[in-house]
Amino acid sequence: GAAVMQDIGSIEAGQMIVVKYRGKPIYVVKRTEDMLDKLEDVKPLLVDPDSSESVQPEYCANPTRSLEPSVLVVEGVCTHLGCAPNYRPDVGAADLGGNDWYGGFFCPCHGSKYDLAGRVYSGVPAPLNLPIPEYSMDGTILTIG
Ligand code: FES
Repeated sequence: GAAVMQDIGSIEAGQMIVVKYRGKPIYVVKRTEDMLDKLEDVKPLLVDPDSSESVQPEYCANPTRSLEPSVLVVEGVCTHLGCAPNYRPDVGAADLGGNDWYGGFFCPCHGSKYDLAGRVYSGVPAPLNLPIPEYSMDGTILTIG
């Protein structure tokens, strides 16, 4: 397989980059401590908070859905009909539900919402969390695939 390597050392805290892998956008977010703290708070609002029904490698079957908690690697492909969700880390955004919005991803096609681990909110069309691809980390080098 054609693995893709990316140096993620220059992503700033709270920022996202997009890496192409097999024609799909892979979102890579450098999560802050604040963002990580909210992963627990948001759980009551989610369809599959423990990702037991969703797709991720075994080594990402954990509360942060990641190898390293500060680095989220997730497919930018909505589990409803495949649009690319927008990165919306702005906690409390009024247009996304205000106090019930903890930051994450918003799909502009039909309004599905995901948190900062790619977990889907209840009450939206998307059925499952965003998939996590196979990847590995070696220092700041991320290898997808
Ligand atoms: Fe994302 Fe429909 S494709 S909500």
